Amino acid sequence: MAGVENKAVGDLTPEEAAGELERLAGEIAGHDERYYQEDQPSVSDAEYDALRQRNQAIEAAFPDLVRADSPSLRVGAAPSEKFAKVRHRVPMLSLDNAFSEDDVASFIERVRRFLKIDAEEAITLTAEPKIDGLSASLRYENGVFVQGATRGDGEEGEDVTVNLKTIPGIPKKLKGSGFGEVFEVRGEVYMSHADFEALNERQEADGKPVFANPRNAAAGSLRQLDSRITASRPLKFFAYAWGETGELPADTQWGVYEALGTWGLPTNPLMRRVKSVAEVMDFYRHVEESRAALGYDIDGVVYKVDRLDWQQRLGFVSRSPRWAIAHKFPAEKATTVLEDIEIQVGRTGALTPRAVLTPVTVGGVVVRHATLHNEDEIARKDVRIGDTVTLQRAGDVIPQILGPVLDKPRGPKPYVFPTKCPICGSHAVREVNPRTGKEDVVRRCTGSLVCPAQAAEKLIHFVSRNAFDIEGLGAKQVTAFYEDGLVEKPADIFTLQARDEKSLKKLKDREGWGSTSVKNLFAAIDERREIDLNRFIFALGIRHVGETNAKLLARHFGTFEAFREAVLAAGEGPDSEAYQDLLSVDGIGDTVAEALVEFFAEPRNEEQIDALLSEVTPKEAERPQTSDSPVAGKTVVFTGSLERMTRDEAKAMAERFGAKVASSVSAKTDLLVAGPGAGSKLKKATELGIEVIDEDGWFERVEAG
Ligand code: IVH
Repeated sequence: MAGVENKAVGDLTPEEAAGELERLAGEIAGHDERYYQEDQPSVSDAEYDALRQRNQAIEAAFPDLVRADSPSLRVGAAPSEKFAKVRHRVPMLSLDNAFSEDDVASFIERVRRFLKIDAEEAITLTAEPKIDGLSASLRYENGVFVQGATRGDGEEGEDVTVNLKTIPGIPKKLKGSGFGEVFEVRGEVYMSHADFEALNERQEADGKPVFANPRNAAAGSLRQLDSRITASRPLKFFAYAWGETGELPADTQWGVYEALGTWGLPTNPLMRRVKSVAEVMDFYRHVEESRAALGYDIDGVVYKVDRLDWQQRLGFVSRSPRWAIAHKFPAEKATTVLEDIEIQVGRTGALTPRAVLTPVTVGGVVVRHATLHNEDEIARKDVRIGDTVTLQRAGDVIPQILGPVLDKPRGPKPYVFPTKCPICGSHAVREVNPRTGKEDVVRRCTGSLVCPAQAAEKLIHFVSRNAFDIEGLGAKQVTAFYEDGLVEKPADIFTLQARDEKSLKKLKDREGWGSTSVKNLFAAIDERREIDLNRFIFALGIRHVGETNAKLLARHFGTFEAFREAVLAAGEGPDSEAYQDLLSVDGIGDTVAEALVEFFAEPRNEEQIDALLSEVTPKEAERPQTSDSPVAGKTVVFTGSLERMTRDEAKAMAERFGAKVASSVSAKTDLLVAGPGAGSKLKKATELGIEVIDEDGWFERVEAG
């Protein structure tokens, strides 16, 4: 059925329609999976919407052919609908942490003091592993599972009932009795190491992204809009708490655990009761030793006061119960070889180093990559390619490199962080904070207009409302065009029509487009061939040049050429007159000046701008020249102390009257306003024969205008 995909719905035969519905169901399910599981969509929103629209149109034309697995029938049909919200009738809390025996002893002491329990009386605690998954609440009404939700923010979670029903360990109906009309069971959904590895192998074989750890895999699998995907993922559950209930089946935590077990709910087999700090520590060490063999991730153990009447009296502090505590395991460490350092480029151009490791198991999980943080960290620790390194993995955070193992053979040479972007080859720089004089830890690619890692983002900015604002060309459309190679850089937008006229694959034949919309788009693009200078400057997406700065620059320089020349000249260095002139623009400080210089120092940005300028003409900006003011168009320098106004006010005032304010005296200076204490600038001005007036003289002059 070649070409059926592009056939208009009205032209499809029933056979072709059935084939198309089958194809679309498969494709959409695939996209959904990638989108929800990884937040890694494989198509643009526009393409995805187009698939759904086509599916709907065919279903409307051939209602008899609607499939059982049709995307339009699926739970939460459209991705934006996501899950319904569920308000937890009893909030889902978190736990306080203990990291040492002392912390645990003080927890028990706090309980004792709070309840005024004699030193002789034992406080029984339940002790159990802290499962590293995600918590869920299961609502049973008269023993029947009716609703399940994620924790969410503790107050409100997401309704994942259908998905929880696919987990074999979760009974749809409770056995026995004692659960009353309402019993909300709480516990952890998790994935075993073996299932996690197998899932990732499957993902890899299918060319899909792999999960970082079992917890992410469990979370991603539970939060699927298509419950069939959840069903295909081997999830498990342990019950350890409850929410809204009627009368409880026991008066101790332990007693309720036993009841949960008889009702058919899985509870953790390592759960024990302990009565002293010594017993607590025995349990902790026992679990820590068994940890690697458990087959699932735990990140500590949890102790809970066993007597429920005591729990009641102890209550809560902020978001955690006073009657429970999590005793965390120290982060797991391992050593392995650092095979390479990869540099990734983010959407804002940030270069981040990532360690490529000889795979090693840390806390039951195979780690292949770790973070190296930034350039300075690598230098500080002298981490070299070829080093044996210590690596740490704590709970759900990205594994990190602690440093080289110094008594193992070292890598041959210190690592040199690249000063060129590995994606586009543009130079990459670290900004200097003008206040502290310190370099930013992040090195950034300056090729913002040419770097593929940043291109899509820049294009979205380019067409945004306060930039080119082209009607019919929003983020969605421009991303779709970018992905298809139609628009890779700003200038391409303006050659779109000419290229489309020559192309065999016409824009109007694309899903979501037609002759009229394409005609309108081209007209809207043409309307922007002349554009306000400030919008043009803003659209370039230069770091630190937002709308306000773009306006200041446009007003100050008037034309793009004047602006570009000034910035290029300022590239001579911060001591140059040109750089000082750039700084003299009201509102423009070192950060912006440097960003401008860096941007124009990248020749490929300039090429892009030239390409753009051959399509687009920035209008000359109106300069605030009060032409009748005697200082209009003059370059003024203020020096010495001013009494009637601050230096900033003076600058703003001068600009309001159309003067240009410079910070140093040069041959270009027309007027020096010197207050008491004026020194070298006054001297230089006198030498150069420049007119010098005082503050009162300044007021007289501007007021005369
Ligand atoms: S009890 C009111 N027990 O840890 C107390 N939580 O940091 C509710 N967790 O959100 C929690 N294993 O996701 C409890 N055996 C266990 C647990 C456990 C894992 C998680 C749970 C909770 C978080 C609190």
